[in-house]
Amino acid sequence: MIQKPKGTYDVFGDYGKQIKYLENLLNTLMDTYHYEYVRTPIFESSSLFHRGVGETTDIVSKETYDFKDRGDRDMTLRPEGTAGVVRSFIENKMYARADMPVKTWYYGPMFRYERPQAGRFREFYQFGVEVFGTPSPMMDAEVISIPVTLFRLLGLKGIQVKINSLGDQESRELYRTALLKHFQPYLSELCSDCKERYSKNPLRILDCKKDKDLQCMKDAPKLSDYLSESSKKHFEQLKQYLEALGIDYVVDEHLVRGLDYYTETVFEVEADIQGFGSNNVLCAGGRYNHLVEHLDGPQTPGVGFALGYERILSALEKEEITLGEENKVDVYVIPMSEEFNGKTFALTQTLRMNGFITETDYLGRNLKGNFKQADRLLASFLILVGEDEEKEHIYTIKNNQTKEEYQVDQDYIVMFLDEKLQELESSCDDHCQCGHHECHCKEGGCHHHE
Ligand code: HAM
Repeated sequence: MIQKPKGTYDVFGDYGKQIKYLENLLNTLMDTYHYEYVRTPIFESSSLFHRGVGETTDIVSKETYDFKDRGDRDMTLRPEGTAGVVRSFIENKMYARADMPVKTWYYGPMFRYERPQAGRFREFYQFGVEVFGTPSPMMDAEVISIPVTLFRLLGLKGIQVKINSLGDQESRELYRTALLKHFQPYLSELCSDCKERYSKNPLRILDCKKDKDLQCMKDAPKLSDYLSESSKKHFEQLKQYLEALGIDYVVDEHLVRGLDYYTETVFEVEADIQGFGSNNVLCAGGRYNHLVEHLDGPQTPGVGFALGYERILSALEKEEITLGEENKVDVYVIPMSEEFNGKTFALTQTLRMNGFITETDYLGRNLKGNFKQADRLLASFLILVGEDEEKEHIYTIKNNQTKEEYQVDQDYIVMFLDEKLQELESSCDDHCQCGHHECHCKEGGCHHHE
């Protein structure tokens, strides 16, 4: 049997419901923040990622899915979303728009050839935002507030926001020189990756998992001592805006991020949940004030973040939060015998056209079998279609919970069901005790376990 590639997964059943719920919530959330939806290709010219994400990053140097297309062009499956959105911003001349800032959001699959493990996949889904055209720290705070708000709406409690500043180009240049000077005598102690980073991007030495316990790492100069006045001011203002929004955060001086494009603010939101595992960064991002010009656009500041669906869903699982409604059927339409299949099918279609979630029998079940199937599908109402119904145009509609039966004229079926389903829904609201904003009530029970 052919199996799925390593590091990928199939979506079906309950997981599918959860993802659908999450994406609906993201859609609504992004509308309220007034961001516009963008979609870019899943593959792009390899050079976009080499130049955009950075030659020395792990993502580009070790993890890309590269291929040649049939025209012998070098292509790469996107390992992240920012480079593609920046390319699109430039190519579609969004920088010329009068309604700056341009605030965009996206979701879709990303590909990295990593060692598969919990929370780390080779194909994974990201939701992200990229905002162009303002250097204001207010926008950094807005971007950070998006995942924080999302997690609040989902009911996820165990999270921690970490922020840091990498400074502007001037600060980074000063810091780079200080790092080179500091690590020079210890070069032989560093791992082979860090030796390479020393010449290409010394800042990333601080990010090294292998060398993190070396004394020379602990004694390394601190970035905060090299921040320019304007970078310090930017960072202080960001903190004030976060405080104004009531967002708790910690400053983590070791947070440098694995991508090359960041300047000024960087941040991560971690799952602070017992037993979550080491891949606990739920989302990450920061400011990139030079990426647009680096990719041949006009100088335009940018800021954004991305979060991984898989990690959010496992954090929710750890906190015992189930998303998504039971996939209840409103009406199940049953033929009394095979000769009424056509009439049944037509009524099913009419009900669907009127917005009812409607199911019928496709397997030629007998009446008992159909009642059982209706129960499996959690059908609220049953409609029987037989000889009398066809002749008299009066249908028997049965409430599948109370078993009450009603005789309803064909012309009034839609109106009748509308009314009855609304009654059911409001009685369900009355039962719900949990007070959770996004609660989905099922016969007085609630899917949100607090
Ligand atoms: P990143 O830190 O590489 O940043 O990824 C962002 C998030 O994607 C991570 O925090 C994690 O939740 C998820 N993620 C990354 N790799 C994997 C994987 N192999 N399996 C599962 N989940 C994963 C970026 O991608 C930047 N483009 C973020 C950004 C946007 N910065 C500015 N704008």
